[in-house]
Amino acid sequence: MTESRVVLVTGASSGIGKACSLRLAAHGFRVFGASRSAPRFQDMKQGSAGGPSVQLFMDVRDDRSVNESVSWVLKEAGRIDVLINCAGVTVGGSAEEMLVDEIRDQIETNLLGTMRTCRAVLPGMRARKSGLLINIGSLAGLMGVPFQSAYSASKFGVEGYSESLQMEVSGFGVRVVVIDPGDVHTEITAHRKETKGTLKGTPYRLNLDAAMRSQASSELHGWEADRIAGLVEKIVRSRRPRFRYTTGPFIERVAVPVRRILPDRLFLGILARFYGVR
Ligand SMILES: NC(=O)c1ccc[n+]([C@@H]2O[C@H](COP(=O)([O-])OP(=O)(O)OC[C@H]3O[C@@H](n4cnc5c(N)ncnc54)[C@H](OP(=O)(O)O)[C@@H]3O)[C@@H](O)[C@H]2O)c1
Repeated sequence: MTESRVVLVTGASSGIGKACSLRLAAHGFRVFGASRSAPRFQDMKQGSAGGPSVQLFMDVRDDRSVNESVSWVLKEAGRIDVLINCAGVTVGGSAEEMLVDEIRDQIETNLLGTMRTCRAVLPGMRARKSGLLINIGSLAGLMGVPFQSAYSASKFGVEGYSESLQMEVSGFGVRVVVIDPGDVHTEITAHRKETKGTLKGTPYRLNLDAAMRSQASSELHGWEADRIAGLVEKIVRSRRPRFRYTTGPFIERVAVPVRRILPDRLFLGILARFYGVR
């Protein structure tokens, strides 16, 4: 099926964002993939199998960068039909020791970055009475993850933000979708560093190491990014997508309904053990 819709993907240089960009471009969508590692406003055509795809610079932590990049896409393509927010970062560490700058960076990127890009594309979508905003949340936005408190906080924020936004924009023909993946095999594992704030002789060492090992192993054995991209493509093609999709390995996904029936303390105790935290 030929597609002429224009898609802007953030975090397109690796992992889920890259998989979404490649898949949608291969199916003929006009894809603009944004990240900090892309050259500034310089076209880079994808391989011959893909449809037209352009990589462009965007730092979602910076108002000006987001607005400039969105304006550039609007000038090039005339509109943005679909925004897919994949840009994200994570740092491992205890909530007590993690540096405030590291906390701020995760909130800036994962939560405020999502808000910035949505705000930048909304005027055009409202004017055309049509648009789709897909925010990549996380199961860590539906339940806390030990030693990833700032990441979880940012992802809980994405959930609340997306719900509020959907109620505000549905009258203008704009749909919001949140996808909450469990662990996915991407570069996120290599990109995740331990906080620089961990104290020498920290009392959290055993649990911190266990949680970070468990997280890395789950990601290594998690879904391939293209499975998430396949879901994204299905959503983009759907006339009436659901508001929220929880995806990923069954053992992780099942935690969502389980947490609704278990008392919170019992659930959190089980979750801590899942991550090797005693
Ligand atoms: N992998 C998982 O298990 C998993 C599970 C649930 C949810 N998620 C979420 O899925 C999204 C994608 O993660 P991933 O696994 O694909 O991770 P990844 O491979 O590390 O990719 C992260 C992407 O975000 C971009 N990025 C980071 N900071 C940015 C900034 N300030 N401005 C613009 N782009 C920025 C990176 O590009 P540059 O560094 O080039 O800017 C990169 O393209 C994230 O929101 C993540 O939280 C991942």
